[in-house]
Amino acid sequence: MLISAFDRVAHNFDKYRRLPHGVPEAIRSAVFDATKIASSHPRLLDIGCGTGRIGWPFVVAGDDYVGVDLSAGMLGEFAHRAAAPDGGSPRLVMADGRQLPFADSVFDLVLLIHVFGGLGDWRRLGSEARRVLRLSGSLILGRIAPPADGIDARMKRQLASILETLRAEPDKTDTRSDVEGTLAAEAAASSRVIGATWTCERTPRGFIERHRNGARFSALPAPIKEDALRELASWAAATFGSLDASFTESHQFELQIFKFQNTMDRP
Ligand SMILES: C[S@@+](CC[C@H](N)C(=O)[O-])C[C@H]1O[C@@H](n2cnc3c(N)ncnc32)[C@H](O)[C@@H]1O
Repeated sequence: MLISAFDRVAHNFDKYRRLPHGVPEAIRSAVFDATKIASSHPRLLDIGCGTGRIGWPFVVAGDDYVGVDLSAGMLGEFAHRAAAPDGGSPRLVMADGRQLPFADSVFDLVLLIHVFGGLGDWRRLGSEARRVLRLSGSLILGRIAPPADGIDARMKRQLASILETLRAEPDKTDTRSDVEGTLAAEAAASSRVIGATWTCERTPRGFIERHRNGARFSALPAPIKEDALRELASWAAATFGSLDASFTESHQFELQIFKFQNTMDRP
């Protein structure tokens, strides 16, 4: 039974969205460096863990890591990694992050990485994340931050405007700033760190292929998707000279760390 839009795209998620070699490992190190959790073996929950793109290095390193996801397809891809030569045996739970099957205050770190896009009732997910987090723990929002004037960002803006004229926008609720603002207001302390920086080649064609395989976009009716991508392709060819024009971009992985216990309250 299909219960998540991600089931449809799970088999292609890593093909289009894999991070360069060493980046997930750098993100793992940044998570521990930035949170300075006192426990020598912190318990970590990754809500919306997906295929393990970010979670896998935690598994390989033997961390006390639990991944939760709503999509059986995405979890299946994560589990499939266990057959890799670097081994590891992920602890994965299929559940809705808005109704977690865990007791209160049991995790030292809760990761929320690219999980809020299109999620209407994000507040429930946020409050569940806080419920299972120990008072001394850290809640971490993570995201890939491409340059604002880069190919992906420009293509994304153009596609949004095309979909608007076709009156067929996918659910483009961008909840990230609401989530960030709410957590920052509730937190005793918050900080932002860059966990990794890398360069990558981007082409308009690459964006179109990736987007075609995105969970929210692929849920649109087929004729609208095709019209929108055709229009986007002709705009991109005129704007960049060719769909295969290649641009080198610098991308970053940004972590926002929220702590809810005042330092003065710590034992
Ligand atoms: C864009 S993917 C990101 C996956 C992973 N965090 C990463 O960055 O590679 C979003 C993931 O969140 C999951 N997800 C969305 N809503 C969820 C919910 N309410 N509870 C649990 N998982 C959810 C989706 O199934 C999908 O696997």
